[in-house]
Formats: sequence, C-alpha cells, structure tokens
Amino acid sequence: MNKTRNWIAMFVLIAIVAISCNTNTKKAETTELTSIEKKVLETDSIGAQLFNQKCMICHNHVGKVDSTMLAPPFFQVKDRYLRASMDKKDFIATMTYWVKNPSEDNILMRGTVDHFEVMPYLAYSDADIEKIVNYVYNNDMEKPEWFDAHQEAHEREDDRRGMGKGQGRGQGRGQGRGQGRGH
Ligand code: HEC
Repeated sequence: MNKTRNWIAMFVLIAIVAISCNTNTKKAETTELTSIEKKVLETDSIGAQLFNQKCMICHNHVGKVDSTMLAPPFFQVKDRYLRASMDKKDFIATMTYWVKNPSEDNILMRGTVDHFEVMPYLAYSDADIEKIVNYVYNNDMEKPEWFDAHQEAHEREDDRRGMGKGQGRGQGRGQGRGQGRGH
C-alpha cells in the first residue's frame, strides 16, 4: 500500500515537472520569435526610410515612362536581380557589390544603359546599404502602372527585330501577360 502511494506520488511529481518544463520552453520560444520578428520589422522600417531617401530620388516612377525618368523602376531592378541570383544571400551580395561598385563592367541590366547613364557611385555607409538591400529583398517593390504595357511593347519590338538583338537582356518572360487590363 505504502509502495503504491509512493509510486503515485512519484508519477505526479514527474508529470508536474514535465508539464512545467514544457510550458517554460514554449514561453521561451514565443518571446524569442517575437523579438526576432520585431528586429526584422525595425530594421525593415529603417531600411524603408533609407531606401526612400537614398535610392528613390532616382529610382522613382511616379510619373509616366518619359524623359524625366532618371533610373529604371526598382520593381524591374529587383526582378532582374532575383532572376540572376541563387538565393537571398547571393541577391544581397550582388546588389551590395553593385551599390559599392557601379560600373559598366558589372552591370546586369545591360539594356538600361541605352536609356540612362550608368548609376553614379554614391558614398553610402556599409550599414545603410545592408539595411536597404535587406529591405528590398524582404518587401515587394511597387510595380508602376505602365510597366506591363511597356514590357509588352518592348517584346513586340524584339519580335519585329526577329529577336536578333535584345537577347540575353533577360526580358520577355511574359510578365503580366493575360491580365487583360490593358487600357
Ligand atoms: C543618382 C541617381 C541614382 C541613385 C541615387 C541610385 N541609383 Fe541605382 N541606378 C541609377 C541608374 C541611372 C541605373 C540604370 C543604369 C545602370 O544600371 O547603371 C541604376 C541601376 C541600379 C541597379 C541595377 C544595376 C545593374 O546591374 O544593372 C541597382 C541594383 C541599383 N541601381 C540600386 C540602387 C540602390 C540600392 C540605390 C540606393 C542606395 C540606388 N540605386 C540609388 C541611378 C541611381
């Protein structure tokens, strides 16, 4: 009898220890996750500010496609870099390298130099570039309204030229096709 009671007591004790351990780890996990998430959000909002201040001066596309545009819209830049990189690390490394060494030798969007000057070197700090590039990777870039129509016009032009030129520019993936919104 005494023995059975001991067994029961021991069992209850083990159960209590097990349950409390379990809830403890759960608690630890949730706080850890939210603090990581918080950090990502914080860095992203600083990244967003820096991006708007330092990159969107030229890469904006508020107006139409016209001669006042200084640089390609960042939606297009990101798309091109995503296709050229294997993963997030690669994307970040390639874009960081570009911002620190913009030159015709390592340009990815070759077609853009027909329309724009090569991007000038601007002395951004490493820390700023890191935040900006992470922000760009983690967030969707706004697609300009005119973008699909513009891409299609380019494709038609390439078709007319018999696809002779313009190959290897990475365009013509059929983006936005079949949306039927064209006005
Ligand atoms: C003074 C204007 C200007 C500013 C500011 C600017 N860019 Fe650019 N950027 C350009 C132009 C023009 C091009 C297109 C020609 C080219 O590729 O060099 C370009 C192209 C790019 C490309 C594509 C390069 C390639 O491989 O073809 C990337 C990536 C880029 N910019 C990132 C950035 C980032 C990130 C910032 C902010 C830190 C930034 N740019 C700020 C003018 C600018």
